[in-house]
Amino acid sequence: MREFMKPVRILQLTDLHVLEDSEARLKGIPTRELLQDVIRKIQDSAEVVDHLVITGDHTHDELPTSYSAVRSILSPWLDRLWQVPGNHDDRTVMRSVFGDRISGAGQQRINFSFKAGSWLCLGLDTHLPGSVSGLIEDQQIEWIVEQLHNSPDSRVALFMHHPPVLLNSVWMDRIGLDGRERLQKCIEQNPAIQLVCCGHVHHESSHRVGGAEIVTTPSTGIQFSPDGESATFVAAPPGYRVIELTEHGYRTEVRRLSETRYVPVP
Ligand SMILES: [Fe+2]
Repeated sequence: MREFMKPVRILQLTDLHVLEDSEARLKGIPTRELLQDVIRKIQDSAEVVDHLVITGDHTHDELPTSYSAVRSILSPWLDRLWQVPGNHDDRTVMRSVFGDRISGAGQQRINFSFKAGSWLCLGLDTHLPGSVSGLIEDQQIEWIVEQLHNSPDSRVALFMHHPPVLLNSVWMDRIGLDGRERLQKCIEQNPAIQLVCCGHVHHESSHRVGGAEIVTTPSTGIQFSPDGESATFVAAPPGYRVIELTEHGYRTEVRRLSETRYVPVP
């Protein structure tokens, strides 16, 4: 008798923005404390974590001690951790602290690829040094196509920091992904790509490109609103995303802390 695939459960955490000083706050929000609260919620709920994906902005100050603090907080899942950088990341420092999880050297892109049952999960590095916006180049598209070619029967989930869509937000779209049309075209041409999980915008949203759903996920710390002409912070509980991959498709939802304990100060 044919065996059915057990769902593979992936947690996506994004935009941790941890600071070197453990008491420091970002716009009034204690990012390290809230990340620890999120981790406690995951552990208390005894959720199965087959893989943990961090979609960038591990730290706010890009300092080695801040990355070491992140590593220590994520220690329950270091053996199943996958990472891509955000704009608030430094590839060289990331590599120096997570050398056992990240291959390559120096400023080389940090992509990842792993199989999850009948799915292929790809992490895309959209970091552009010195820029808040991201970049996706032809080389990255060629890498995706090659990965798809090597797993012709897989459904594909992408993980990346900068969403490859416009959000109809004046200020968020100013700091979006240059070259997003390249990835949109790739998604349209490759229906195996069914889900794209992003960070960067610190709030939950869902969009469609071709046959794929593009989702954004709340930060584990400070929350944004797409409203307004410039960066807008809102009082909302930190969160993370649960993704269950099955042989028939996927289920995904955002989970949040039960209360908003801190209000951002502009
Ligand atoms: Fe961020």
